[in-house]
Amino acid sequence: MAKYVVRQSGALMGDLVASGSKNAVLPLMAASLLTDDKCRINDTPALRDVEVLCRILEDIGGQIRFNKEEKYLEIETPQIRAAGAAPHLAGRMRASILVLGPLLARIGKATVALPGGCAIGARPIDLHLKGLEAMGAKVQTFEKDGFDFVEATAEHLKGCEIYLDFPSVGATQNLIMAAVLAEGTTLIQNAAEEPEIVDLANFLNKMGAKVKGAGTDNIRIEGVKALHGTEHTVIPDRIETGTFMVAAAISGGDLTIHNAVASHLTPITAKLRETGVDVFEGEDFIRVDARGKSLKAVNIKTLPYPGFPTDMQAQFMALLAVAKGKGTINETVFENRFMHIDQLRKMGADITYADRKASIIGTKALHGAQVRATDLRAGAALVLAGLVAEGVTEVSQVYYIERGYEEFVEKMRSVGADIEYIEE
Ligand code: EPZ
Repeated sequence: MAKYVVRQSGALMGDLVASGSKNAVLPLMAASLLTDDKCRINDTPALRDVEVLCRILEDIGGQIRFNKEEKYLEIETPQIRAAGAAPHLAGRMRASILVLGPLLARIGKATVALPGGCAIGARPIDLHLKGLEAMGAKVQTFEKDGFDFVEATAEHLKGCEIYLDFPSVGATQNLIMAAVLAEGTTLIQNAAEEPEIVDLANFLNKMGAKVKGAGTDNIRIEGVKALHGTEHTVIPDRIETGTFMVAAAISGGDLTIHNAVASHLTPITAKLRETGVDVFEGEDFIRVDARGKSLKAVNIKTLPYPGFPTDMQAQFMALLAVAKGKGTINETVFENRFMHIDQLRKMGADITYADRKASIIGTKALHGAQVRATDLRAGAALVLAGLVAEGVTEVSQVYYIERGYEEFVEKMRSVGADIEYIEE
């Protein structure tokens, strides 16, 4: 097991470049199954989750070239060899469920091992399955060799109206990918509006699909006969960028993050400004200047986009742990995304919580401790706390962090963080 050793660091100063978005590139990779042509995705981040999905796509029949130096991925699936994701791979990553829609659309069959009960909640896929059934798929779940599987078959998918009980990001993505080759038109109501949905729609439309309304809660997809290959540059990672913005704020530093889309960061910018730090939005960068500022506590409520992102909740909890006054966090998206509270408490944070609401009283100083990452964003939050805690903080289970942050240690060290990777 590897760990990060983080020591109290001064103000982080300088420039960073955001990588391509993990949560955008994974659906794009799955969408490449919808054609037998070659697709090329530029600015693909070298992340563990991307590697796992590459393995899954290769098992399915994908021929993949991942050029990590030039950061592009080429995927070509001339024919589908196996209609699904094996448990040893699918179980490692929830996004493996995203091959369901494309496989159903391409060959009318898909068998995917259900992703392991993720740490942050049950994370069911009922909305994915309900939508696919509405389009004419037969869905069954079964257990084999101790794994749960979902199998979906469909002679052909028919467009229809689907209302999502919750604007699920994954369900919206799966249903768009199932609908692009379906007969007729599909309308997804109460759809997720995340930038990653817009990026997927842009990618599919470049492949010849007809997807309208992505980015709103009503998405209209007109089925077409076939899709062709394309080249696309994935959008920057707004959560990695937000994490670096909080790093500047918590350390009283001044960071400029390049390759950033300011409009994807609005709730993070608004909340950071409310704490008293300065945020400057550029054409393709964002700058957070917290020099000489004492942070004021704020109240956070996580919501589907364009609300405050749940993936930034843990990072803001670390910030509130050292801000002035009492802040609150209401986590409305996942039912169990407060496991970082126990870890922050080990560092001296004054946090109480009940159900999905937490109260954080900022303390003058945190102290180093041995803590563990409980999900990738919680892990990043513990590193941020370690930057300002007195002494040394050791963060274990860092494979979580490496699932979603490309060259995290290198990037943080480049702006003055005292952090090192230790292989145990
Ligand atoms: C995506 O997960 C992201 N992952 C998550 O990022 C992110 O936290 C989440 O969206 C919300 O923004 C990827 O894009 C790979 P959901 P997803 O379906 O699609 C419930 C990270 O840190 N739900 O919008 O799985 C579900 O239980 C990760 O990068 C159902 O009830 O999220 C949850 O409470 C963590 N039934 C809520 O909706 C369903 O069929 C949001 O889930 C589907 C979801």
